[in-house]
This record gives sequence, C-alpha cells and structure tokens, in this order.
Amino acid sequence: MQISSSIFPVFLLAFIFISGASSAHNKNDFFECLTLQYRKSNSETDSIYTPKNASYSSVLQSTIRNLRPASNSGQRPFVIITPEHESEIQAAIYCSKKLGMQLKVRSGGHDYEGLSYISETPFVIVDMRNLRSISVDTEKNTAWVQTGATLGELYYTIAENSRTLAFTAGVCPTVGVGGHFSGGGYGMMSRKHGIAADHIIDAKLIDANGRIHDRKSMGEDLFWAIRGGGGTSFGIVVAFKVQLIVIPETVTVFNVTRTLEQNATQIVHRWQYVADNIDENLLLRLFLRSINSSGKRTIGAFFTSLYLGRVDDLLPIMQEKFPELGLVKEDCIEMPWIESTVYFAGFQGQSLDILLNRTGVSTTFFKGKSDYVKQPIPENGLKSIWKFLNKEDANRAELQFSPYGGRINDFSESEIPFPHRAGNIFMIHYVVGWSEEENADSERQISWIRGLYSFMARYVSKSPRAAYFNYRDLDIGMNNNEVNPSYKQASVWGFKYFKNNFRRLVHVKSQVDPTNFYRNEQSIPPVSPW
Ligand SMILES: Cc1cc2nc3c(=O)[nH]c(=O)nc-3n(C[C@H](O)[C@H](O)[C@H](O)COP(=O)(O)OP(=O)(O)OC[C@H]3O[C@@H](n4cnc5c(N)ncnc54)[C@H](O)[C@@H]3O)c2cc1C
Ligand SMILES: *[C@@H]1O[C@H](CO)[C@@H](O)[C@H](O)[C@H]1NC(C)=O
Ligand SMILES: *[C@@H]1O[C@H](CO)[C@@H](O)[C@H](O)[C@H]1NC(C)=O
Ligand SMILES: *[C@@H]1O[C@H](CO)[C@@H](O)[C@H](O)[C@H]1NC(C)=O
Ligand SMILES: *[C@@H]1O[C@H](CO)[C@@H](O)[C@H](O)[C@H]1NC(C)=O
Ligand SMILES: *[C@@H]1O[C@H](CO)[C@@H](O)[C@H](O)[C@H]1NC(C)=O
Repeated sequence: MQISSSIFPVFLLAFIFISGASSAHNKNDFFECLTLQYRKSNSETDSIYTPKNASYSSVLQSTIRNLRPASNSGQRPFVIITPEHESEIQAAIYCSKKLGMQLKVRSGGHDYEGLSYISETPFVIVDMRNLRSISVDTEKNTAWVQTGATLGELYYTIAENSRTLAFTAGVCPTVGVGGHFSGGGYGMMSRKHGIAADHIIDAKLIDANGRIHDRKSMGEDLFWAIRGGGGTSFGIVVAFKVQLIVIPETVTVFNVTRTLEQNATQIVHRWQYVADNIDENLLLRLFLRSINSSGKRTIGAFFTSLYLGRVDDLLPIMQEKFPELGLVKEDCIEMPWIESTVYFAGFQGQSLDILLNRTGVSTTFFKGKSDYVKQPIPENGLKSIWKFLNKEDANRAELQFSPYGGRINDFSESEIPFPHRAGNIFMIHYVVGWSEEENADSERQISWIRGLYSFMARYVSKSPRAAYFNYRDLDIGMNNNEVNPSYKQASVWGFKYFKNNFRRLVHVKSQVDPTNFYRNEQSIPPVSPW
C-alpha cells in the first residue's frame, strides 16, 4: 500500500513534531516495551511503524479522509501498529498503560474530527487495517466482520455469497466497520431495516486490562454500550457479529434533480410531510447545494433514492404519496442491491471491485455538523437556508436531509445508546469543504457553517439539541481539545448524542474502565469514585 508522496503535499510539513526530551525518552521506552512484548508472543515486528520506517507516513496518511484535523494538530503518533493478531493489540495496551501513553484506535479513519489519528498528548495508534476478515453464514444469515474491514468490503463479500442477503449501513464504501457500527450506522435501507448497530448480535472486544471478551463474558451492559455509544470509550472492538437482512433480488434507484425554477422550495417543503411515513421500502434522501444552472445561481435539490422492489411497484406509491416530485419511469433504474451500493457511492456503472478500493475517496478539508428535525421547516425557513447556501461556492457546501421513521422507530430510545427514534422526521447533515490552497482561510468556511447552525436552532430539536455521534463535532462541547473531559464538560455533548442514555454510558464506563484508559476528546468519562 504505497502512496506516492505527491498526493500529500505541503500539509505534511505542517505536522510539526513537537517532542521534548522526556517524550523522546518515552518514545524509546515504548518501542522497547513493545518489541519485548512482541517477542514474548512470537509476533513479527513488521506491524510496528515509527517515524524512522520509510512507510510510516504513507500508513499514517492512507486512511485520513478529512485533512483539516491533522493540519491543525502539532503531534504525530510515536508508533503506529497494524496488528494481525490480538496479542499485538494486547502488547500495545500493556505498554501504553505502563508508560502512560495515550492510545488511539483507527479502523476506517473517517472520524470527522480525526480523533482516531490525532492527539495533543503523546500517543500511539492501533490501526485495524489488517484485521478485516469477513465470514458470512448463509444458513443463519449472519456474518462475523473484523473492524478493520470497510463497508465496501462487507457489502461485496455478502453479495459474493448471496443475492438476497445484505446489510444496512452507510453509503461511503471506505468507511470503517469499527467506528461506524459502534457509533450507529445510517444508510439507504435504514427506514426498512434500521441502523447497523441495531443488528449487532455479538462482538469481540479487548478491555482496558487486555482481556478478550465476547458478548457473554463482557456482559449485557458493556455489549449495550458498544452498539451506538462509540467503541473508543470502552475497549478495542476486534470484530462484530451481525444479523444480515433479506432483500429482494432487484431494487430500484433514482436521483432526480429539481431547481428553484422547478419549484424545489415547494417540493422540498412537501417532502417533509412524506419522507418519514411513506412506504418503508422507500428511502428518499435529499441533497441540497447551490448550483450553476445555465450560468445562473440556483439551488439544486437532488432526491437520491432507493426502493426495495421493482419500479412498477414504486411508481404508484410515488403517484399517491408524493406526486409533486413528478417521478417517471425513465428516472428509475432497476439493479441488484450490490450495484446500488456502487451507484450511491457515486460510481454508477463501474465494476463492483470499486467497493474493495480502500483508498477510493479523494481527501479534502471539511467541517460537518448534524441536527434532528421534528417539525417541518416552513417555506420561508427553507428560503433562508437557500440564502446561506448561495453565499458559499457551489459544491463546497451541502446539506443532506436523511429521512427517519419506519423501522428506526420500532426501537425505544434506550434499546441501544443511539437514541434518535420516534418523533424525528429527518436528520440534517451540514458539511462544508475546501481545498489545500484555501486552508489558510478556512475560518471563512468554519464561520459559515457555525452561522448556519446557529440560525437553524429555531427549526430543530431542543433540550437537548440532538446530534448524530458519527458526525462528530467538537464544537458542541465546552472543551475542544482536552483529552480527559470532566463529567460536566462531557455532559454537554453527551446528552446531545445519546440523550438519557448518556447516564447509563457513564455508569458502564465507570464499571469497565474506571481509570479512563480508553479516552479521547469526546469519550465517556467515568464517574469519580470519590
Ligand atoms: C466520506 C464519509 C461518508 C460517511 N457516510 C456515512 C453514512 O452514510 N452513514 C453514517 O451513518 N455515517 C457516515 N459517515 C460517518 C462515519 O460513520 C463515522 O465517521 C465513523 O465513525 C467512521 O468509522 P471509521 O472506522 O471509518 O473511523 P475511525 O476514524 O477509524 O474511527 C472513528 C472513531 O471510532 C473509534 N474506533 C474506530 N475503530 C474502533 C475499534 N475497532 N474499536 C473501538 N473504537 C474504534 C476511533 O477511535 C474513533 O474515535 C461518513 C463519514 C465520511 C468521512
Ligand atoms: C520499522 O523499524 C523497526 C526498527 O528498525 C523494525 O523492527 C520494524 O520491523 C520496521 N517496520 C516495518 C513495517 O518494516
Ligand atoms: C411550479 O408550480 C406552479 C404552481 O403550482 C405550476 O404552475 C408550475 O407548473 C410548476 N413548475 C414546474 C416546473 O413544475
Ligand atoms: C457559474 O457560471 C457562471 C457563468 O457561466 C460563471 O461565471 C461562474 O464562475 C460559475 N460559478 C461557479 C461557482 O461555478
Ligand atoms: C445525483 O445527481 C447530482 C447532480 O447531477 C450529482 O451531483 C450526484 O452525484 C448524483 N448522486 C448520485 C448518487 O448519483
Ligand atoms: C482506487 O481509487 C483511487 C482514487 O479514486 C484511484 O486512484 C485508484 O486507481 C483506485 N484503485 C483501484 C485498484 O481501482
């Protein structure tokens, strides 16, 4: 996995390596400790990378999807390990503990704030890339998937085994199973089948003492916590066992565009009354951007949709429930589900192998946020959103409206830590991106997205103003880069991400990791025992 250095230009230089004499000392101690532990378990040291190894930088960079966090960070990891065996993870845990070194776990590297690969304190990374085996049981309709696998690899492997089995998880094929499943996992089938975490039936986890657990030995409290509460606070998840879902052999996709001139405002407004209660087999996701249409600035509303069935069954549903969109047969394409995953990833028509490409998405600088909508936004509210979007350069800012309802509502708010159930019409995802050249001026984009978020307060959920944990946002806390948030600090974002489940997460954390070994800038704090 060699990556030419030209892909990662100047910003690498911005990774200034601040290390005083004591941390240099620590670094050597850590390396020595690690190699000793490796020797004890007869592991090969070729899963250890220090900055002296030629491929260190390419390994570090290869799964970074957002360049913003790394460009702001002063530290690089002392060591990256890419374990092939659990004993290597245990060695890293042992030595991190012994030397008081921060340990970060990375699966797909898609964390919005880079928490899997940056830190303000000396740290090491356990990168799960080599632990990515997937085994599908087509009799029981289950699969064990190691957390270093990507969603694309999972989808591909399931489809290799069956035309009628699938899994409900995110859209981008390079997202990692480790962060995604442990933080929720919303995708194009979520109205029919819920989120990824709803389907986890067993897990293999290494706790703060290096002990390996399955569901039975970890207990139901901890097993509950890692299904939406985020893996990082509780341990290193090596694998999840999931219940697969049954799908029809043929599904239907469409991606219909409406501009303001084509009544986008009215149609989007109307969409809010339909999206969460239409047939569960149908998920009408909505992307909104400022676009150039024949030289004129307008808003493009892209209705990107999946129907789990044939087009002839879809059209009458649309005609009855959402005629305003004016969907016609020619807009629709029938295909096997696995091809739809390629379609939604933006690679329409390309070979399925694209799902196995772990470096398949171009990297960029971006900032994201999320909100939940419980009452339709009035038309004049939408018009104000358009004004915000038109302030930004086309393609640089986008809103995604992801409909809820259906199966998502069949679970109570406390069934698993992911609490966003009945009562939500849709989730808004705000994102703004920029290029390397514009990075010096990134405050402009950051204040744009913060301004929009602040404007949106009147239209979205309140007390708490809920947010989706997997769209991690360090703005919604009181501490932006402390690695050891207090309960009071953590409760600011804790209740937004998890609602009242935050309390139980704190309880579980204090049981399984009272010394807070597994921690990051937004990890669940243990309650002080005194
Ligand atoms: C381009 C893009 C598209 C996305 N699309 C979707 C989507 O369609 N639907 C959706 O719901 N979300 C989506 N997301 C958000 C995504 O679900 C989260 O960013 C998720 O946390 C990424 O998981 P990861 O393993 O790739 O990330 P990482 O950065 O590796 O990890 C994320 C967090 O989980 C922790 N972690 C990772 N692996 C483990 C492990 N094995 N054990 C314990 N802790 C672990 C990390 O330490 C970090 O805190 C998208 C993100 C991006 C960048
Ligand atoms: C990195 O360098 C160390 C020390 O020389 C060596 O033990 C290790 O095997 C190297 N790692 C790789 C991936 O080559
Ligand atoms: C937009 O709505 C108006 C009024 O309802 C209607 O007359 C017009 O045909 C619509 N335009 C398009 C492009 O659908
Ligand atoms: C939109 O189109 C106009 C005219 O074609 C052009 O001048 C402008 O640069 C375009 N804007 C963007 C953001 O592409
Ligand atoms: C939907 O169409 C828009 C506009 O052409 C495009 O930018 C977007 O990538 C398309 N989405 C998919 C999933 O094809
Ligand atoms: C994977 O994707 C990257 C980025 O789009 C591309 O450069 C590369 O050629 C792809 N590799 C394969 C094997 O398709």
